[in-house]
Amino acid sequence: MADNHQSTNGFGQTGSAQNGHTTVIDNGQTASVENGQIVAAENGPTASTEKVDFSAPLDLSCLTDLNVLVTGGANGLGAHITSRLAEYGARVTIADLNLENGEKVSKDLNDKGFRTTFVKTDVTDWNSQVNAFKAAYSMHPTCGIDIVIPCAGLAGFPLQLSKSVSLDKDPEPPANDTFDVVLKGVYYTTLLSLHYFRLPSPVIPGRMRRQLLFIGSLASYLEIPPMADYSASKFGVRGLWKTIREEIRQMGYRTNLIAPTFMPTQVILPVADALEERGAKLASVGQAVDAVMRLLADERAEGRAVAVGGYGNFDIRDDSDGLDGGIETLKYFASGGMGPGMQGLKDVLGGRT
Ligand SMILES: NC(=O)c1ccc[n+]([C@@H]2O[C@H](COP(=O)([O-])OP(=O)(O)OC[C@H]3O[C@@H](n4cnc5c(N)ncnc54)[C@H](O)[C@@H]3O)[C@@H](O)[C@H]2O)c1
Repeated sequence: MADNHQSTNGFGQTGSAQNGHTTVIDNGQTASVENGQIVAAENGPTASTEKVDFSAPLDLSCLTDLNVLVTGGANGLGAHITSRLAEYGARVTIADLNLENGEKVSKDLNDKGFRTTFVKTDVTDWNSQVNAFKAAYSMHPTCGIDIVIPCAGLAGFPLQLSKSVSLDKDPEPPANDTFDVVLKGVYYTTLLSLHYFRLPSPVIPGRMRRQLLFIGSLASYLEIPPMADYSASKFGVRGLWKTIREEIRQMGYRTNLIAPTFMPTQVILPVADALEERGAKLASVGQAVDAVMRLLADERAEGRAVAVGGYGNFDIRDDSDGLDGGIETLKYFASGGMGPGMQGLKDVLGGRT
């Protein structure tokens, strides 16, 4: 017997769908229903776009002369992204707190004839980021800023519980560095990107749409104990991206996200061996850079999240079709890519990494 299901979507509009069928709800949104539960909805707040096709040919020459801002570009993933983009002829502004490394990365690339600049920036400070955006804009005032990649990051703290519990002494406030850099900093970068993207500029035939590429993490999809502040911030980055991706598309720009598993950069190096000994499969930084290049240069990639897993890169299907990434995330976990499981991760990451 057909089972009718009454539902309310994210905008408070209601409709009914029949078991086993795809039914149009009031506002044009469609939903598939199984056993009385809506299992997928299209054209709604989490509408699907075409999955990333990693086998499609990729022409990176479209990156030539694009104007890019990379926060956190002085080290690790951000430095590798900067180098790859500069090698393909992009103009890159590195915005990072680390003066010594930032200047070195920029100088080494410029000595090879590439076009980069370094601006000392604290992403937690609005004015400091405004300064970085102004510098990036001035790298190519005719065209403005084409691509922004908020890559600055910190490892998290283990759950900051007070050492002793008593009413005699008030608990100390926790450190908020992780939230400030990983979430607040990215929020600032997002708002400033959309500000600078909207400045008038000439229409140049063939030039790619502007893009804001978020750096999430598998910790945006899976809980990684004990680093609650890091996971909460990375879930927040993903939430920000999901919330505005349609709005960004409507503005005429693109936005995508990568979600890497552990990679051997300076924050992970101290625990990399312990993770691998327990069976975790680390991804290489080069793999993450490949994911970034795919999302930047493939004009069809729009509103997609790509996981950088230990066994390779894949579209995590963070949309209605993939149940918000849940299907692919669970498959990845079941494949053993996270190795030691949640308790094992807690053991390895118990100290601040
Ligand atoms: N390494 C991993 O396993 C891994 C996994 C998933 C996601 N990520 C993400 O990748 C990104 C890059 O991380 P990474 O592994 O290359 O780390 P990293 O430490 O090598 O690089 C982070 C950079 O951010 C900069 N930074 C920190 N605080 C800043 C601030 N307040 N203002 C400006 N710059 C600041 C640092 O100086 C550094 O250059 C981060 O967003 C991180 O969360 C890393």
